[in-house]
Parts: sequence; structure tokens; C-alpha cells
Amino acid sequence: MADVKLVNLTKIFESRGERVVAVDHINLYVKDREFLVLLGPSGCGKTTTLRMIAGLEVPTEGEIYIGDKLVNDLHPKDRDVSMVFQNYALYPHLTVFDNIAFPLKIRKYPKEEIRRRVEEVAELLRIKHLLGRKPKELSGGEQQRVALGRAIVRRPKVFLMDEPLSNLDAKLRILMRAELKKLQKELGVTTIYVTHDQVEAMTMADRIAVMNEGRLMQVGTPQELFNRPANIFVAGFIGAPPMNFFECEVKEYEDGYYFESEVFKYRISEALGKLVSRLGISRVIMGIRPHDVKVSRGPIENSIKAETYVVEPLGTETILDFKLGANIVKAVVPPTMRIEPGEEVWLVFEEDRLHIFDKKTGKSIYVLAGSEEH
Ligand SMILES: Nc1ncnc2c1ncn2[C@@H]1O[C@H](COP(=O)(O)OP(=O)(O)OP(=O)(O)O)[C@@H](O)[C@H]1O
Ligand SMILES: [Mg+2]
Repeated sequence: MADVKLVNLTKIFESRGERVVAVDHINLYVKDREFLVLLGPSGCGKTTTLRMIAGLEVPTEGEIYIGDKLVNDLHPKDRDVSMVFQNYALYPHLTVFDNIAFPLKIRKYPKEEIRRRVEEVAELLRIKHLLGRKPKELSGGEQQRVALGRAIVRRPKVFLMDEPLSNLDAKLRILMRAELKKLQKELGVTTIYVTHDQVEAMTMADRIAVMNEGRLMQVGTPQELFNRPANIFVAGFIGAPPMNFFECEVKEYEDGYYFESEVFKYRISEALGKLVSRLGISRVIMGIRPHDVKVSRGPIENSIKAETYVVEPLGTETILDFKLGANIVKAVVPPTMRIEPGEEVWLVFEEDRLHIFDKKTGKSIYVLAGSEEH
């Protein structure tokens, strides 16, 4: 059992005169037994972070602690972590049994104990009938289980998993993500799990750390990130379909405050208007999730006229695309709401469903207002 602490962790790659800041001063605390997901787009530094924790890459700067112990100078095999790679990296010439047994053999466990442990793990992962086969005689999903088996056969302090489900087909991935989540809780081993799939992150994580361009953008529970994204990046990355954004100017008139975009004028409450002006923000990015856009067939107060562009029925719900000037706005409505392309509608954005960001910094005004109080 162990917690993991990253302090100012940085990795700069220099090759052929090119300098790539892959990981940029990351500070992250992973609690004992926690399932933490590192989430971010391709190239944001997830694998590099994981490889530094495993000891496969040397940090340019910063410290890594596993259970209070500074491990920067420890050899990978002395860190007591096990890593599952995206491509499984099974030994092709070894049987499933010997692949799973490998970490125990190199640590010179007694033969009987190796047999007992491998069988236990194979039972747990439901691959007992495959122990005599070679990796090339297995499906992708089975190979994936063997790689997991090899990682969990020894109870390490920390599991490091790099997109372990990405080579599986969609159906198997959904099945395995639930199983993996259950397994992690049963084993109670601190886990850092890398993915670029926000649905995987949302469904599996105790907490998610969102990365972009080598930096940490926000750390929190799936609900926290969804309900209160701290910046435009997190707001746009989490949630499907993605959040709608509008660039607006903040204006104060005699009758109150407004957010004005090129195509609409949206009345906001005095409290919100005062907050934004107190923070000295003149331009905001206003965000609203498609599930929060209300669609009305007739004009109502503080609504925005739009034209229906595309209708995408999904069965359980329908995605509607509206044209608002040059913008496309998405709304998700119940399948019972029948709207035709070309139809004129009025969109209602309720103020308590809005996400508001400073255009200059990309930060949420709630974060800015919160840090102002301290
Ligand atoms: N050995 C290396 N030498 C030079 N640059 C590297 C090296 N390894 C990674 N990089 C660069 O560092 C950045 C981060 O790479 P990393 O593999 O950590 O991204 P990632 O978040 O895991 O992406 P993906 O989702 O595509 O796997 C990228 O810009 C990548 O090109
Ligand atoms: Mg990667």
C-alpha cells in the first residue's frame, strides 16, 4: 500500500537540436488505494509521466515519492510498481503461464508459490483454460488479460497502466473497463491509469487529472470536472457532445448587464454582471452543455432565435444542430421532441447552467472569484 507524490515533475527531450517539453512542472498527489486517471489528448505527456514514475525515463527536474520514499534514484525493479503497456508486450516464446509467472521467477519465488499465485490470478481473470497457450494463439482481449495478470500476480505498491484497453473492440472495452474497476477495488492497489478517452476516465476514475501540453489543467472527481470545469480546456474536453462556446462582450446598460455576441444579446443577472466586472473581465467565453440547452418552438423571454440545421436521432435522445450566425449550437432533447431541419426555434440558456470563462486566461470566473477570496 502506498500513495504517490509528484513534485514539479518535468521532462524535456532534446534530440537533433529540437527541444520538447513533454511534462512541465506537474504537482500531483495520488492517495493510497486510489484509482487516478491521467487524461489528455495525444502527445500531452501522459506516457512520459507514467514512464518516469516507473523509472523507465529520467526526470529533467522534480521528485517522485512512492509511499514517502523518494524514488528518483531507485532502479525500476526496486520501485515496487508494475506497468501494463498499451501493446501488452508479452513474451511471444513463453506460454501464458510463464508470462504471468515471469515477475515472480525473476524475484526467485519458490516454485510452489509461483504455481499457486499464477492459478489464482488466472482464475480471477478467467483465463485458466489458456495457461498452456502462446500469446499468438490468443485474441486481443485474452492477451490483454494476460498482461494484466502479469501485472497483478505480484502485489506491487502501485499499478501503472498505459491505455491498456485501447486495442480492444468497443464492446470488449466496455466490459473490461467495468471488470478492471472492480478488480482494482478488490486488490486495493493504488493505480495510475492513462487514457485519452474521456468516457473511460469518467466511468473508471476515483479522480481524474486532466493534462494538456505537458501541464496539469485540473484534478478532481469526475463530477467535479463535469460540473465545475476550471478552464476552457477541461470544459471542452469532458462531456459528449462537447460543450457549446460563444465569445461575448460584457456590457452594462441602463436596464442591466448583458453578454453580447455577434449574433445575440443575452441578459444576465445583476449578481453575475457585478462579479464579472469586479474581476475586471471585458470579454468572456460563455459555455453551455448540449443537455442544458432548452429548445422552445415559440419566442420566450431572454431566448435566442436559431434555425434547425441537422437532426440526429440516437433512439434514447436526439441531437439537434442549430445555426446561430456562423456558429453551430448543439442541443440534446428527448426523442419525443420532433423538429425538422429548417424549422425556426428559440434557445434558452438558463444562467445557472452556464460556464463562464475569462477569454484572456481561459480560467473559469468561479476559480478566479474563489482565488480572490483567499
Ligand atoms: N524519446 C522521445 N524523444 C523526443 N520526444 C519525445 C520522446 N518521447 C515522447 N516525446 C514527445 O513528448 C511529448 C509527450 O509524449 P507522450 O508519449 O508522453 O504523450 P502521450 O500523452 O502519451 O500521447 P499518446 O496519447 O499519443 O500516447 C510528445 O510531444 C512526444 O512527441
Ligand atoms: Mg501515450
